[in-house]
Amino acid sequence: MQVALVTLTWVALAGVVAPAPRTPTGARVAQLAADFGVRLFREAVERRGDGNAAFSPHGAATVLATLQLATAGPSRHQIEAAMGFDIDEPGVTLELRRLRKQLGGPGHHLAAAEGLFVARELALSPGVVTRFARALGWRLAQVDFRQPQQARAVLNAWVQNHTQGMIQGFLPPGAVGPSTRLVLATAVYFKGAWLHPFPVTSTRRRLFHKPDGSTVAVPMMEHTAKFNYGEFTTPQGLDYDVVELPYRGGAVSMLVAAPSRRDVPLAALTRALDARLMAAWATNMTCVLRLLVLPRFSLETTWDLRVPLKALGVRAVFEPEAADFTALSTEEPLVLARALQKVRLEVNESGTEASSATAAVVYSRMAPLEILMDRPFLFVVRHNPTGAILFMGQVTEP
Ligand SMILES: *[C@@H]1O[C@H](CO)[C@@H](O)[C@H](O)[C@H]1NC(C)=O
Ligand SMILES: *[C@@H]1O[C@H](CO)[C@@H](O)[C@H](O)[C@H]1NC(C)=O
Ligand SMILES: *[C@@H]1O[C@H](CO)[C@@H](O)[C@H](O)[C@H]1NC(C)=O
Repeated sequence: MQVALVTLTWVALAGVVAPAPRTPTGARVAQLAADFGVRLFREAVERRGDGNAAFSPHGAATVLATLQLATAGPSRHQIEAAMGFDIDEPGVTLELRRLRKQLGGPGHHLAAAEGLFVARELALSPGVVTRFARALGWRLAQVDFRQPQQARAVLNAWVQNHTQGMIQGFLPPGAVGPSTRLVLATAVYFKGAWLHPFPVTSTRRRLFHKPDGSTVAVPMMEHTAKFNYGEFTTPQGLDYDVVELPYRGGAVSMLVAAPSRRDVPLAALTRALDARLMAAWATNMTCVLRLLVLPRFSLETTWDLRVPLKALGVRAVFEPEAADFTALSTEEPLVLARALQKVRLEVNESGTEASSATAAVVYSRMAPLEILMDRPFLFVVRHNPTGAILFMGQVTEP
């Protein structure tokens, strides 16, 4: 199904990020983490265009918050500035741990797992292990990255296990190698049944309007119930509707938002959104009786978060000359080589099942950096002493 269901999915996952805050500090850190995750989504999705996409703001925020503990100098300050908090400020780690604990709850299955996989031979700075354990409750696992196939299998099995099998083969071949020194990973698994399931017998094909103006007939679920619903306007004057679909247990909801007019692109709405606004929706919706029609959908998205992170100012950590991981190890210079995320999500009459895996992969920068020619390229065969160009051409499909 080639449709733009961007809003559906990110709102679902962002909803997971911000449970009812209990304390002012908790509210602040949870809100800042959610806000960072949403801004990162906006940067990432803007570069992807109007295709389907699912993202996990919470998974990304957790990995970046943790990366603060491993970095120093400008590498660290840029992450703090992008996220709006410093993990060493009093109370912050306590609130992050509390947020994690609050995610679980009766009625739904929501589990977040974190893994800190360190190269066996890396000499860690004193106190690092205690800092990770004390700050976030993360335990450290040693991995032999000199056996890249096995290391990748271990990490992918960990992800698969913590996503109930939904995410397989998370790290692609070549993602870790003999120069890998650290992988910070998070896995999130959510399964929730609708408080009011859609009757399976009511699902039928209806037309869905694609961004390009064409239509496609897809199975749409429908049912009549009382929903929280609101009509809102962005600061730019764009009208949009929001409806809330609660899961059993009441702690998690899917919020579905769309521009009120079919000819307004979804991107116009996406650009206006932030975590604060989403929190404000809840207080401005009213419970009304409606017939809700929603497509059944299933998405899988993989993200390279390097460019979106750089757009948010997280740059030094990716630069071989500037990256500072001395908080982790002073033995050799390290650099963040990859920031990846994979998300799968399925929505049907009974509810939602969704998983994400996010990883930051840190390499020794003693090793040559990779140059990945995974896109069309030009070639020139040149005789250097004379400057003669012997051959040239382009490869667009090897
Ligand atoms: C899978 O997860 C369970 C708990 O969720 C744990 O007991 C088990 O050791 C894990 N297995 C692997 C291979 O990580
Ligand atoms: C919610 O309602 C309040 C008061 O009616 C208003 O000030 C606020 O702007 C509204 N928020 C949104 C997101 O519409
Ligand atoms: C909905 O999907 C879940 C898996 O996520 C599955 O167990 C359930 O049977 C599905 N329900 C329907 C009505 O297809």
